[in-house]
Parts: sequence; structure tokens; C-alpha cells
Amino acid sequence: MEVVIYPNYEAMSKAAAQMVARVLNAKPNAVLGLATGSTPEGLYRELVRMHREEGLDFSQVTTFNLDEYVGLPKSHPQSYHYFMHEKLFKHINIALQNIYIPSGTTDNYEAFCRWYEERIRQCGGIDLQILGIGADGHIAFNEPGSSLGSRTRIKTLARQTIEDNARFFDGRVDLVPIYAITMGVGTILEARKIMLLASGKSKAKAVAATIEGPVTSMITASALQLHRDVTIFLDEEAASDLKLIDYYRWIQANKPGAPKT
Ligand code: GLP
Repeated sequence: MEVVIYPNYEAMSKAAAQMVARVLNAKPNAVLGLATGSTPEGLYRELVRMHREEGLDFSQVTTFNLDEYVGLPKSHPQSYHYFMHEKLFKHINIALQNIYIPSGTTDNYEAFCRWYEERIRQCGGIDLQILGIGADGHIAFNEPGSSLGSRTRIKTLARQTIEDNARFFDGRVDLVPIYAITMGVGTILEARKIMLLASGKSKAKAVAATIEGPVTSMITASALQLHRDVTIFLDEEAASDLKLIDYYRWIQANKPGAPKT
């Protein structure tokens, strides 16, 4: 795992966008795994800016989103479909047929989940997966206790997640869906390259457990320790509980001069 710490959210988002751009420049038809939530919004804003001002090209890119609330139609302002179109897709030159987001309204979830996994495989697998993290250490909607080998399926959301996300539903816990369809931890670990972004004090404990704690299904993000190419992008507050913070800063400062591997 590589841990990189930036002075603030803006700087972190810009650095993360640079990594996405490097992947797209090397492979214009890359398959991206996308996350929602407030954390990646700055990264998406920066990608839109790079598209407009620097010609960053998405015409051959395929995307797979991590998750979606069960029961929300695509047009619902809090659905992840809506979020992705508003924050990213409608501002860039991605082909609509190359966008995949789990369906929150299918009448056969089991078949849909199988199809989604199959589609990822048919598209050649995910080249770069973008992740946020929940305050309880979840990635996508893989709540504590999720199997580290899990695949795309329906999950019942934890109370903490429902309470955290109520801020998007006029603060009303009763309006937050109880179920979500989500890629599994096993699905995520198959991505060739993974980046996780975290910002703010409320994520500091989950971040420390992810990076420095044991690998455990109680913190599903900790499974990333088993992956060979993960970068964790943090702002100062999200990094504030890390025990080895000085070491990560030391590595980051000395990286430009390091011998090439
Ligand atoms: C939801 C999403 C996760 C996201 C998390 C954190 O639970 N399913 O993918 O990482 O929220 O969201 P935020 O970035 O708003 O803190």
C-alpha cells in the first residue's frame, strides 16, 4: 500500500485526478471502477476540468460503478445513477453505452448481479478502481462482516451507514433505503490498480484500521492490504490517527529520487 498525504481536500483531489489521467493516457480504452459519496466529488470536478481545458479523452473509456441503493429509480436525486450523471458523465465525452451502474430497480437482483460480474469480465476487468470509505471502514456497501471473497450482491445497510447518509435525504433516516446492491470485496480486489480517497476527521479511525490494523471482515477496506497496487490518498485530518505517519511522509518526500524498480 502506498499512503500519500496532502494538506487539504483540494490538493488530494487534484493528485488523485492525475493518477486517473495517467491511466487514461497509457490506455485510452481503460475500464474504470467508480465510487459515489461526497469524497470523490473533487476528483470528478478536476477530471471535468482536465477534459475541458486539457482535452482528457473519455471517448473509449468504460465505467462500472460500485453500488446503488435498492428501490431508488434512476431519476431520484439521491440515486447513484443521478449522482454520476450530474457530477461527471454529462460533463465529459463518455459514450452512454459504456456506462454501467448497478440497477436499483431490477425485478431479478440475483440474475442482475451475475450479469454485472460477467459484464466486468467481458470488458476485460477493471483497470483502475476508485474507492471512498465509510466511517465504519466499508468500501462500496460492503458493511462490517462482509466476506472478503464476496461478489456483487444485495447488502443490508448498517445503521451507522444509514445515519451517515441521512444527510443526503433531508436528514431523515426513514428515507434512506435499507438495502443496496454492491460489488463485493472479492470483485474489488480483482481490479488491477486501486485508489482509495478519504478526507476529514470522521474517517481517521477507519483509515488507521484499514492501513495499520489486521485484515478483517470487520473493516472491509483492510482487505486492500492483500492487493499489490493500492494508493491511499488522504488529507491531513483523515491521516491524523496513523501511527506511522512520519514514515509515510518520509517515503512520499523521498520518492522522486528513489531508484527505479
Ligand atoms: C457510501 C458509499 C461508499 C462511500 C461512502 C462514504 O456508503 N457506498 O462508496 O465510500 O458512502 O461516503 P462519503 O464520501 O460521502 O463520506
